Amino acid sequence: MRSILLLNPKGGSGKTTLATNLAVYFALKGKSAALIDFDPQGSSIDWLAERPADRPPIKGIAAGEGRVRIPSGIDYVIMDAPAGLHGDMLASLVRRAHTVLVPVVPSPIDLRAAIRFHDELMRLSAVHKRRVAIATVANRVRENSTNRDLLEDFLRSLKLPDGRKLPFVACIRSSQNYLRAAERGLGIFEGAPSLVAHDTELWRPLFKWLNSKRSVPK
Ligand SMILES: Nc1ncnc2c1ncn2[C@@H]1O[C@H](COP(=O)(O)OP(=O)(O)OP(=O)(O)O)[C@@H](O)[C@H]1O
Ligand SMILES: [Mg+2]
Repeated sequence: MRSILLLNPKGGSGKTTLATNLAVYFALKGKSAALIDFDPQGSSIDWLAERPADRPPIKGIAAGEGRVRIPSGIDYVIMDAPAGLHGDMLASLVRRAHTVLVPVVPSPIDLRAAIRFHDELMRLSAVHKRRVAIATVANRVRENSTNRDLLEDFLRSLKLPDGRKLPFVACIRSSQNYLRAAERGLGIFEGAPSLVAHDTELWRPLFKWLNSKRSVPK
């Protein structure tokens, strides 16, 4: 079983969008995928409720207050974190993950929040002890924008506690395809190839990283 956590305390950075699309990607590959929604808003579970019965199934788990029980036989657990997660709750969620993906949106406010969050994340003992592999993803990126360049330069400059580079693994563009898919309980990987090819192509480096040894702790 492999667990991947979508994490950024800044609201609206794309945690749920990336979580649901990752779950779809693995489900389409014939893997058994579970989506654990740690957000009291329940956006991932709401998305799953819209999912057509004829699509590859994804198991939904609303984390709520109690302990989360992951059913046996699950290949991929995708965890959707809530906004505003800090302190002990943040540390405890990170401890559950093999891999943490941090989506960041190109805006000055999100960038400043990401600088603070990076400091907090790098202080966690699970990160210091290399018990989790972390990468950043630029999300809702628009072509030829200054904010995009600023964000990419920033994400490329980030370091892990031991001085190695923090991997920056994908640049996902802003696209109506995400909204169209989300309202129907689908992922972009289930859209007509002629419409979604450009978007799905941008996920490739992320999947390459997720399939590499670098994305799991040693
Ligand atoms: N690449 C994208 N292109 C277009 N719209 C996007 C993209 N990524 C996310 N969105 C939209 O941006 C909004 C916020 O995204 P999302 O809900 O995934 O963020 P979040 O980090 O889960 O937010 P929260 O912290 O509130 O849980 C949603 O309306 C979503 O559909
Ligand atoms: Mg969310």
